[in-house]
Amino acid sequence: MTTERPTWPRSPTGIAYGGDYNPEQWPEPVWDEDVARMREARVNLVTVGVFAWARLQPGPGSWDFAWLDRALDLLHANGIAVDLATGTASPPPWLSLLHPGSLPVDARGVRLGIGSRQHVCPSSPDLALATTALVERLAARYAGHPALVMWHVGNEYGDHVSACYCDTSAAHFRVWLQTRYGSLDALNEAWTTTVWSGRIGAWDEVMPPRVAPGPISPAIRLDFRRFSSDALLACFERERAILARVTPDIPVTTNFMRPNPGIDHWRWAAREDLVSCDLYPDPLDPLADVEVAFAHDLMRSLGRGRPWMVMEQAMGAVDWRAVNMPQDPAVVRRRNLAAVGRGADALLFFQWRAARGGPEMLHSAMLPPGGTDSRGWRQTVALGADLARLAEVAGSRCVPAQACLLVDWEAWWALEQEGHPTDALRYRDLALWAYRPLLELGVPVDVRHPEDDLSAYRLVVAPNLYLMSDAAAAGLTRHARAGGTVVVGPFSGIVDAQHRLPGGHHPGQLRDLLGITIEEFWPIPTGTVGVGAAAGEMRPRARVEAHGSVWRDAIDLRTASAVRWFTDGPLAGRPAVTRHRLGSGEAWYVGTVLDGDALTTLVGEVATAAGVDRQAGRPAGVDVMVRERADTRFVFLVNRTRERVVVPLEGATGVDLLTGERVTDAVTLGPDDVAVVRSPGDRSHA
Ligand code: GLA
Ligand code: GLA
Repeated sequence: MTTERPTWPRSPTGIAYGGDYNPEQWPEPVWDEDVARMREARVNLVTVGVFAWARLQPGPGSWDFAWLDRALDLLHANGIAVDLATGTASPPPWLSLLHPGSLPVDARGVRLGIGSRQHVCPSSPDLALATTALVERLAARYAGHPALVMWHVGNEYGDHVSACYCDTSAAHFRVWLQTRYGSLDALNEAWTTTVWSGRIGAWDEVMPPRVAPGPISPAIRLDFRRFSSDALLACFERERAILARVTPDIPVTTNFMRPNPGIDHWRWAAREDLVSCDLYPDPLDPLADVEVAFAHDLMRSLGRGRPWMVMEQAMGAVDWRAVNMPQDPAVVRRRNLAAVGRGADALLFFQWRAARGGPEMLHSAMLPPGGTDSRGWRQTVALGADLARLAEVAGSRCVPAQACLLVDWEAWWALEQEGHPTDALRYRDLALWAYRPLLELGVPVDVRHPEDDLSAYRLVVAPNLYLMSDAAAAGLTRHARAGGTVVVGPFSGIVDAQHRLPGGHHPGQLRDLLGITIEEFWPIPTGTVGVGAAAGEMRPRARVEAHGSVWRDAIDLRTASAVRWFTDGPLAGRPAVTRHRLGSGEAWYVGTVLDGDALTTLVGEVATAAGVDRQAGRPAGVDVMVRERADTRFVFLVNRTRERVVVPLEGATGVDLLTGERVTDAVTLGPDDVAVVRSPGDRSHA
C-alpha cells in the first residue's frame, strides 16, 4: 500500500527563511546568541547537521546525540523549525580509514584521500551499512521532535565526486548493465564493440571507462554516467526509505546544484518529496541573471509545479572560484524575490554564522564574523522583513506557462563527449542560449523532459537533442503535427538512446519533423560568420543582420523552407535557420549558435506565430511572474536593469505587498527594485 507523501514541511507558515546552521562548530553559549539573532532576522527554518557525522558518531559503536538534542530543543523553544540533515556527505576519518574501500577511486585508479568531504564510493557496502546505522538512529531519535519538519539527505550529490571507478563499482556497473541489456550480445550490439576489437566475451570483461591510451566508446561512457547517477541515487534512496518508513509525515529532499551535470535530476526529483537547490551565480558572469531565472524555472518544473526551495546561496561572496566578488545586496534581494515569483516558498543560505576556520572561513554568511555591525547583517535582517511581507504568497501556484524548454541529462552527457566536430558546443551554454530569448521576451517557461507530454505547450524549445530516444522524437513530431510549434537547436537528432546513428542522413530521427537533411557539419572554429534574413526564400547572399558562432550545418532543404542564410564563409548562401510546416503546426531548426539578439528576434517571430502571450507593455529587462490562489493573484514585477522604469498594470489595481501601498494603473520601479502586487484573481486561469 502506498501512502501519500507530504510535499512541504508543516511549518513554518509563510515563506521559509534561514540557512545552514552548524551548532557543532561553536561552544554552546554562542547558540543562545544565534537563536536571538535568528529571531531578529525572522529566520524560521534552519538546516542542521549537514557535516556533523563525526560529532554524532565519534568512533565505531559510540554515539553522541546529546548536543543535537539540546540544539533542536533550543531552536524549537525559539519557534525555529529544523530541516535535519542526515550528515552522510562526509564520513568521519575513522570510518574511511577503517574501511578504505569506502573511499572513491578516480579514472586513473587513484584512491582519493580523506580531509575534505564526499570521500565516498557510492557502491561501497561498508558505507551502506554505516549510513544505514546513522540514519536509523537519527530517524528514531528525532521522529517525534517538534522542531523536525523536513529531512535533508546527503549534500550536493555528485558535486566533488560524481563517479567511482573502483572494482566494487565495476561489479555494480556489470549488474546495472545486465539489467539494462539482458545479454552480452545485446550489450555488444549497443556498444558497437566490433569497432577496435572490443568484443566482450564475459561479463567480467566489462570495465568502467578508466584512463585508456585513446578514446573510449561514447556508448560506454554514456552508460557509465547513467550508472553513476543511479549509484548515487541508490544512496539517496537507501536513506529516503528509512526516513519515509520511520517518519511518514516528514518530507524528504536533497539539494541539487545550479543544475549539476553529474546526476539526472529528472530521475532524482521523482524520488523526492520536494525539490531544493543551491544557487551561486557569479557576479562577474554577464549571464548570471539568465542562469538564475533558468534554475528557478527548472526547479519548479522538476517539482511538477509544486513549491520548491532555494536550499543554499550566498549573501555576499563565495570562496571557491578563481576570483570571488561579493554580490550586490540589491541584486541578491531581487533574485530572491524573483525566486518566490517563480514558485519558491523557501529561501535559505549558506550559512547562518560564518565559520571561524576551515576551508570556507572566508565565505560570506548571514551573520558575518564582524557580527551585527555589518552590511551583511543588515542585508540579512532586511531580506527577512521583505519575506515576512510576502507570507500570504506561500502555497499559491505559478500560472501555467505556454512555452517549455526541453532539458535532458542524457543528451547533456552524450553531447559533451570526444569525437565531435567541435568540443565548443556545451550543453549548459546551449540551454541558457535558448532560455534567454524567452526571458527577454517575457514568455513564462516551464522545463520539461523530451519524453514528457507536451500537449499543454504552444511553443516547445529544444536547445539540444544530440541524443534522443525514438519515443521523444515521435512525441515531438506528433506535437507539431497536432498544432504545436517546435524549435530545435544545433547538432540534434544525431544518436538514439543507445548512442548509435539511426541510419541515413542527419538529423536521423528528426528528419520528418524538421524537413531537412544535413550531410556535413562545418563548425566555426573562431569568430563569427554572417547570417542574413532575406525577404525571399531563394536569395542566396542576403544582407548580414546577425552572426553565428561555434556551429554551422550544411543543410539541404527537403520539405522545409529557409528563413535565415549564411552570408559568408564556405556555406554562404545556404540555410542557417529553417521552418517546416507539418500537420497543423511547425518546426524550426537553428543550424548555428545565433547571437543573442538575433535569436531573441527569431524566437519573438516564432512565439508570435505560435500565439504565445508576451506580457505586452512590459519594459525590457523587467520580469513579470504571476502566482495565484483561489481568488487572489500575486504579480511579481522585477526590474533587472539599472534604470528607473514604469510598468503598466493594464487596469489591475491592488496592493504592493512590499511597500503596503495601493497601486493603480502602473508601478514605478527603481534600479533592481521589485513590487509584488496582490489583486483579485483572474478567472481565465481558474
Ligand atoms: C588512423 C588510424 C585509424 C583511424 C584514423 C582516424 O588512420 O589508423 O584506425 O583511427 O586514424 O583518422
Ligand atoms: C554548497 C555546499 C555548502 C558550502 C557552499 C559554499 O552550498 O552545500 O556546504 O560548501 O556550497 O558555497
